Amino acid sequence: MRKPLIAGNWNMHKTVAEAIEACRILETLVQDDQVETVICAPFTCLSALAALGMKKVKIAAQNMFYEEQGAYTGEISPVMLRDVGCDYVIIGHSERREYFGETDETVNKKVHTALKFDIKPIVCVGESLEQRKNGQTESLVTSQVEQAFSGVDEADAQKIVVAYEPIWAIGTGETASAEEANRVIKIIRATLKNLYSEEVAANIRIQYGGSVKLENIKELMEQSDIDGALVGGASLNPETFASMINYKSLK
Ligand code: 13P
Repeated sequence: MRKPLIAGNWNMHKTVAEAIEACRILETLVQDDQVETVICAPFTCLSALAALGMKKVKIAAQNMFYEEQGAYTGEISPVMLRDVGCDYVIIGHSERREYFGETDETVNKKVHTALKFDIKPIVCVGESLEQRKNGQTESLVTSQVEQAFSGVDEADAQKIVVAYEPIWAIGTGETASAEEANRVIKIIRATLKNLYSEEVAANIRIQYGGSVKLENIKELMEQSDIDGALVGGASLNPETFASMINYKSLK
């Protein structure tokens, strides 16, 4: 059984004080221990959030570098993320790919070093509107998944979370329909089956991301292959985000 994982990606939002306040509210409101809850906070907030000693909310970084240490001005290493108590790290978000030169090759390197330091990667894949219109969705996400998992053994592969985030649905208010998100996620699971086995693929959690909100989370979560959500804008308000995590209570 795959335990659903709902992660809030705060992007470049929140001061330390705002982050602490939001997490205190989340800790109070999150009810469902059948859902794993993760907050992907800015680097500057991570140690303050870890110091809260939260029981229901795990913390994640939104990026990291693939080297352990060295002359890489401005970068943060997996050793540093482990040091502040990060359980997860987002790798290969489309914004990193678009604005900061992330490639399938650097995604793979980051996956390997994150796993080495016991930080679970949340690997983002997804097509642009143009790629979708050109019928490239399936081949693109398959190739992104194959490259991200390259050289990762069976045991480690099952620690990775994949987030299918179609770029055209991020921050646009336009969501893939639940059926369409499930269809592409099934293709991703079939790719993982080809790379490993049916059993391994059945254990890997695959989230959907892109304009997930209170109004659509339940329908998305009810799909057969959607094991969670990577939520951007709607995760900034802790009351709203807590209601999304408690989606089973929604009508
Ligand atoms: P939105 O939920 O704001 O569309 O963002 C999705 C996202 O990119 C989460 O990583």
